[in-house]
Amino acid sequence: MEGVFPKTELFIEGGLRGEKGTLQLFKLGKTDAEVTSEINSRERGKGFGTSLLKAAEEKARELGLRRIYAKTHKDNSRGKGSLLKAGWKFCATQDELLVFEKIL
Ligand SMILES: CC(C)(COP(=O)(O)OP(=O)(O)OC[C@H]1O[C@@H](n2cnc3c(N)ncnc32)[C@H](O)[C@@H]1OP(=O)(O)O)[C@@H](O)C(=O)NCCC(=O)NCCS
Repeated sequence: MEGVFPKTELFIEGGLRGEKGTLQLFKLGKTDAEVTSEINSRERGKGFGTSLLKAAEEKARELGLRRIYAKTHKDNSRGKGSLLKAGWKFCATQDELLVFEKIL
């Protein structure tokens, strides 16, 4: 879990930037990455977050990664809901954040 928190290298950025939201994938060592995603506020709750997580997963597989992480605030029920729905598993806490992982 040590590698979850420092973001060492930007992999990809702006998957859906400007339209529905933004996706970033940060490399953590050779086989892991951290995903951050944000859907534009007017577009939330319409399924785009789920699409973005699937896109992150596909990209990570293409890059040969084995595991991806995402963090969300403990009170962010939408964030938690979208990760769980996409099959991510809770794996750790970091202060007020919950860390989820997806093994690829
Ligand atoms: C979290 C976020 C990316 C989710 O994207 P989204 O497009 O709003 O989510 P989706 O419409 O794909 O919904 C996916 C699932 O999330 C859950 N969800 C959606 N809205 C919810 C709400 N208001 N409350 C609780 N759960 C909710 C549901 O399980 C939903 O699946 P369902 O519609 O089949 O029930 C988006 O809301 C966002 O950008 N929020 C602000 C930034 C953020 O919190 N990012 C996550 C941390 S990196």
